[in-house]
Amino acid sequence: MVQEFDKVGVVGLGAMGAGIAEVFARAGFSVTGVEIDAAAVGLGRDRVHRSLDKAVSKGKLTDSERDSIIDRVVFSAEREDLADADFVVEAVPERIEIKRDVFADLDRVCPPGTILATNTSSLSVTEIAALTGRSDKVVGLHFFNPAPVMKLVEVVSTVGASSGTLEVAAEVAKRIGKTPVVVPDRAGFVANALLVPYINDAINVYERRIASREEIDTAITKTAGLPMGPLTLADLVGLDVCLAVMDVLWEEFRDPRCAATPLLRRMVAAGLLGRKSGRGFYDHTGADNPAEE
Ligand code: 3HC
Repeated sequence: MVQEFDKVGVVGLGAMGAGIAEVFARAGFSVTGVEIDAAAVGLGRDRVHRSLDKAVSKGKLTDSERDSIIDRVVFSAEREDLADADFVVEAVPERIEIKRDVFADLDRVCPPGTILATNTSSLSVTEIAALTGRSDKVVGLHFFNPAPVMKLVEVVSTVGASSGTLEVAAEVAKRIGKTPVVVPDRAGFVANALLVPYINDAINVYERRIASREEIDTAITKTAGLPMGPLTLADLVGLDVCLAVMDVLWEEFRDPRCAATPLLRRMVAAGLLGRKSGRGFYDHTGADNPAEE
């Protein structure tokens, strides 16, 4: 064991952040979940409670287990409440100006030894680390959607991260029941560099009317044994997130496979973002929303 600690902060309680907070609390950590204001805190709290209630209704947790998990989470609109956190995971929207604001505050508020992790999928972890005065203690901790379920966590290393920081991040991932894989800070890291061009290829097939969305998805689920076809997966991940990752892959590699299809770009411009907006390649207005479960 590299370092014993139990106080974790999670900044941002959207679909990913709430899932991450839940995973840490289930593993026995004391979690402080921080959002931007009281309304966002309320939404984040609801996400965590809904997910735990669902586990109770499925018989996966008892009422008292749920209650003790909830007791381990403090919800707050104050970043100052992270002053005693040993390890912080940031999961705020993928805009560098928002990250800049968050990391400036974390750097000021958290003790010098606190490791600051980012769940970014489309920004450079190295650039985020450079926003702080502790780039040796900044690391990527990239979860996959839905965070409570998916086992992989990419531990993203940068040229400035210390080996001790990477070791602690990988150990933390194991303590929350995940499988850590250390990957370099390059566009898409490893998993998204494989997954997102595959989704883009599927959108291309759909856009060119080669096959219907159902035929494309069935072609994959019934052959490759994946739980979801690429268009269903795009709706789960969020078309805006897919586009953001495609754009950084294109920017970095200029590989034609990484040029976002016009349809993907237009759907994002139209606000058709998948499950989170109610419509993407499929209509989700009447359906359960796994990303929000
Ligand atoms: N939160 C918590 N648990 C959830 C959940 C959520 N949001 N969504 C599903 N689950 C749980 C269910 O409760 C169920 O648990 P159980 O088996 O213990 O009862 C289990 O997951 C299976 O769920 P369902 O039976 O409802 O439905 P499925 O069997 O269809 O599974 C799925 C749903 C887990 C989402 C599965 O379809 C899947 O694994 N899909 C692929 C997801 C994937 O590839 N994610 C990676 C995306 S890439 C990414 O996130 C990176 C980013 O940077 C772009």
